Amino acid sequence: MKKITHAVIPVAGFGTRMLPLSKSVPKELLPLGNRPAIHYVVEEAIAAGIKHIVLVGHAQKSAIENYFDVNAELDNQLRHKGKNELADSLNWLPDDVTVSMIRQGKALGLGHAVLAARPIIGEHDFAVLLPDVVLDPFTTDAATDNLAFMIDAFHKDNHSQILVDKVADEDVHKYGIAKLSGAGNVDEQADVNVSFKVAGFVEKPSLAEAPSKLAVVGRYVFSNQIFDYLANTTASVGGEIQLTDAIDALISKYGVNVTTMCGDSYDAGDMRSYMQAFIYFAEQQLADEE
Ligand code: G1P
Repeated sequence: MKKITHAVIPVAGFGTRMLPLSKSVPKELLPLGNRPAIHYVVEEAIAAGIKHIVLVGHAQKSAIENYFDVNAELDNQLRHKGKNELADSLNWLPDDVTVSMIRQGKALGLGHAVLAARPIIGEHDFAVLLPDVVLDPFTTDAATDNLAFMIDAFHKDNHSQILVDKVADEDVHKYGIAKLSGAGNVDEQADVNVSFKVAGFVEKPSLAEAPSKLAVVGRYVFSNQIFDYLANTTASVGGEIQLTDAIDALISKYGVNVTTMCGDSYDAGDMRSYMQAFIYFAEQQLADEE
C-alpha cells in the first residue's frame, strides 16, 4: 500500500456564520494570531506527511490560492530593500509540497466538494481536513498526533479513520455524531488517540436522537473507495450531498474506525468560537515573543 501523501481541503463555502467578515474576506483567511486560519491547517497536513494538497474552492475565494503562491513582485521588492528574511518567511511551503486548486462549481455540500477533488487525487487514498476546525498547535504535535496518528492507523489495518471528540449536549446538533458498536460507556472513552470500530454516523441529530456525544471533528483518512460511494450518494440533510452518508455506505462494506482526538480544537467557522481562538492564538504568540 502506498503511503498517504494527498489531502483535500474544502474551501468553497461562503461562511454565513462569519458574516459580515466573510462577505469579502474568505473565512479561511481570517487571522488566528498572526496567521490566517488555513495556514495552521496546511501546516498540520504537512507535518503529518502530506505532500499534495487540493483546495476545493470557489471563484470568489481565489485569495486563498494566492496565499499559497509566490508573489514574485512582492518578493523582489522585499529583497531589493534588503528584507530577505521577511521574503523567505513568505515562501514557507516546503519545495516538495504542492498546493493545487480545483473549483466545486455548484454548492451541493461537503460530499460533493470532496468528490470534486477526484480528478487530482486519482487512485490515491487520501486525507480530508475541514478548515473550520483548527487543532491547537501549541499543545499538540502535528507530526505524531491526530492526523499523523490516523494515517499510521490506516496503514496498519486499511480502515478509513475519522477523528471524533466529545462535545457538550448543546453542541450535538452542529456535528456528525458517531454511533458506536460494542458495549461500554462511550463517553468515557480515553481521550487521546485511541482508534476503534464505529457502527455509523448521524449527521446533525437533535440531542434526543444523538447516538453518542462523540462528534466528527473534521479530520478524515479515506481509502479511495469513498469516491465511488460519494458518486452514488444523493442529497439528504439540508438538500446537500453529505459526506456522512457516503461514510455510512463505506462502513457497511469495509468497516471504518474512529480516532479520539488529542488536545483541543477550535471552530474557526463560528464567530464566538473564532473570537476565543483568536485571543488564545494571539496570547500564545505574544508570550513567545517576550
Ligand atoms: C461538517 C460535517 C460534520 C462535522 C463538521 C465538523 O459539517 O458534515 O459531520 O461534524 O463538519 O466541523 P459542517 O460544519 O460543514 O456543517
